[in-house]
Amino acid sequence: MKQIHIATFGCQMNERDSQTMAQLMAAEEYQLTERMEQADLILVNTCAIRRKAEEKTYSLLGRLKRLKRKNPGLIIGVGGCVAQQEGERLLERIPHLDLVFGTGMLYRLPELVEQVRRDRSRVSRIERDLRFSFPAEETPGIPDRGLPFEIKASVNVMQGCNNYCAYCVVPYVRGPEVSRPSSEILAEVKNLTTRGIKEVLLLGQNVNSYGLRREGEISFATLLERIQGVAGLERIRFTTSHPKDLSPELIDCFGRLTGLCEHIHLPVQAGSNRLLKRMNRHYTRETYLEKIGQLRRRTPALAITSDIIVGFPGESEKDFQETIDLVATVRFDDIFSFKYSNRPQTASSAFPDQVEEEEKSRRLKELQAFQKKITFSKQQALTGTVQQILVEGTSKKSSLGWTGRTRTNKIVNFPGPRGLLGKTVSVRIEAAGMHSLKGRLIES
Ligand code: 5AD
Ligand code: SF4
Repeated sequence: MKQIHIATFGCQMNERDSQTMAQLMAAEEYQLTERMEQADLILVNTCAIRRKAEEKTYSLLGRLKRLKRKNPGLIIGVGGCVAQQEGERLLERIPHLDLVFGTGMLYRLPELVEQVRRDRSRVSRIERDLRFSFPAEETPGIPDRGLPFEIKASVNVMQGCNNYCAYCVVPYVRGPEVSRPSSEILAEVKNLTTRGIKEVLLLGQNVNSYGLRREGEISFATLLERIQGVAGLERIRFTTSHPKDLSPELIDCFGRLTGLCEHIHLPVQAGSNRLLKRMNRHYTRETYLEKIGQLRRRTPALAITSDIIVGFPGESEKDFQETIDLVATVRFDDIFSFKYSNRPQTASSAFPDQVEEEEKSRRLKELQAFQKKITFSKQQALTGTVQQILVEGTSKKSSLGWTGRTRTNKIVNFPGPRGLLGKTVSVRIEAAGMHSLKGRLIES
């Protein structure tokens, strides 16, 4: 058996793609290894969303030079969003690189690796080959070889994005929005549950517009309903949602579909209408807050998380304070917050009124300190409650035995007997930390 090492940067979609890479290469007798030094093939699955993510790719690739020198037979490939963005330029810039494959070339990976191996040539391919993105006959699940037993899995429901938010590189590196046929999605979910998967995370850049551009396709709400009908499946989650497309039909799914977990990730990006407009987001602070109200009226226990960018071009202190004010109003369970980063090709990279780096850092610090208090008080509010925990594995803090999540996606560690993996158990929450809760099993 040959050995493959895959390094993944970026989002859950990239993590899913890395699994597919592992699965595709498993069929070519490549076994996954954590140890880069042992690998015959190293793949770097890259992210271009912020400059920092891209820099990580270059720093890792730099370090691989030494391995290549030691083992000239080693094949090094770069896939994902930076590969799509840079193409051939990566081969020019990095002499020890063998293969560049874009986001549309994922399913051609075995063939491209074989080409490098056989011809000892350097290969760069970044065209979009949608035929291969979703092979109808073989639904990509978890690799049979190489990966440990899993309880949850991610399933792609669409690719690409048509929204063109002013700051965002995704439409350029992932292409236009294409929904995957619902029959394929359902087949994949069924396949996963027969292998013991209890929870699926449905992935897309904007799942709320699922099916709208595919003739005769069902809506996302109907898709959720069908997936909930798959035998053996206990939990459904989805990400990411665009506030402009969050429909009343989807809001209605919460509380109605028992398999749908009480958590939504709804990126707001900013609290100032002037900025939301410049960001090309197509909603206002007021309509966002209205949707939050509708969601909470429907499901009071719903956990809501968000993404926020600080220092978007033209952001004044007043705009920023409107973001803080929105965060105070909504009281998100948690947020992911980022300093604005200029990306090639995006509209905002040409905006003249860029915010100073120090100012961005100051605002990010203020926002994060502000949210931290809210996150902690939300965690603390759970102490004393009883939560349904799907057990995902053993806790890293070994004294606490098992780890799992609440339906609202909070991590809970608790001691317990053997054999709980994959079971849903009742746990009383006894202590709260910033990132996890501690509990006691009350029944299994
Ligand atoms: N700079 C900073 N953050 C960005 N995001 C997307 N593009 C940029 C950028 N150019 C953030 C958004 C998005 C999340 C995935 O990354 O908040 O929701
Ligand atoms: Fe990064 Fe976006 Fe590509 Fe995901 S889709 S890897 S977040 S650039």
